[in-house]
Amino acid sequence: MSNLEVIATIAAMRGALSQRKKDGTVALVPTMGALHAGHLSLVRAARAMCDVVVASIFVNPIQFGPNEDYSRYPRSLDADLRLLEQEQVDYVFAPEPEELYPTADAGTSVNVRVGERLDGVSRPGHFQGVATVVAKLFHITSPDVAFFGQKDAAQIAVLRAMVRDLNFPIRLVVCPTVREPDGLAMSSRNRYLTGSERLQSLVLYRALSEAHSEALRGVRQAGELRNTMVRVLSNEPAAHLEYVEVVDPNTLIPIEDVSKGGLLAVAARIGTTRLIDNILLPASTSRDRCE
Ligand code: PAJ
Repeated sequence: MSNLEVIATIAAMRGALSQRKKDGTVALVPTMGALHAGHLSLVRAARAMCDVVVASIFVNPIQFGPNEDYSRYPRSLDADLRLLEQEQVDYVFAPEPEELYPTADAGTSVNVRVGERLDGVSRPGHFQGVATVVAKLFHITSPDVAFFGQKDAAQIAVLRAMVRDLNFPIRLVVCPTVREPDGLAMSSRNRYLTGSERLQSLVLYRALSEAHSEALRGVRQAGELRNTMVRVLSNEPAAHLEYVEVVDPNTLIPIEDVSKGGLLAVAARIGTTRLIDNILLPASTSRDRCE
């Protein structure tokens, strides 16, 4: 017997959670659905750490650019609900776009400056859309803890800054990137890849891994690590690079030296599919990571 409750309106979500606050801590796991093992690792961490677990499924239109894949983004609500049921999630918040955005132009948004870097360069407005919807989800569910994946490293930097700057009383927990056995970071967008593109996409992880090994061997110069990534990536002509960076994981500003840690981050297009991946260099891991 499942206790999973699927909720579509803000009022019903607030109502359900107001009954449950007395039961202990509330976890929120925001997603856009098309769930895979990466998402489920967040749900499991939430289930292990909190008393009431809410997952949201919402393909957020305002974080997609005009020429991006909003309309073809994979949607698989029934399968997603079955998976969340197995993970013993208590509530799924799955509103229609009109519920969260009743007017065409709400005129209010959350703008976090760090979101102008990395993915924010080629996806202007993307992180404003992410921060706005996550702020709304935070207000609707008032979680004690919210769970996010290291896979989207720039998103983490944006949301940490938002929580700090707008004083949300919410702890962010970041879970490690879940990968396919061959190293490809799991992503809902991987299902766009053709058979040959799937093989070509491995170059992202190869480039990161090679630079990571160099860092573990003691290379401290970010420029050297970056050159290694660029060299590996340039061996795969199908990969069209968007960025290859060594940055501070909180500010997303390029660094020169990784002695105090750093973030190796790449974004590339394989065919029409945009893929991102990253590896966090050791010294910068924080106590809020769930590995
Ligand atoms: P989505 O891409 O569905 O991802 C939901 C959460 O799952 C994010 O925190 C993301 O970092 C995490 N995730 C995705 N792939 C992962 C992997 N391979 N390993 C570990 N975690 C992974 O990110 C979004 O949705 C949206 O921007 C959202 C935050 C829901 C706002 O709309």
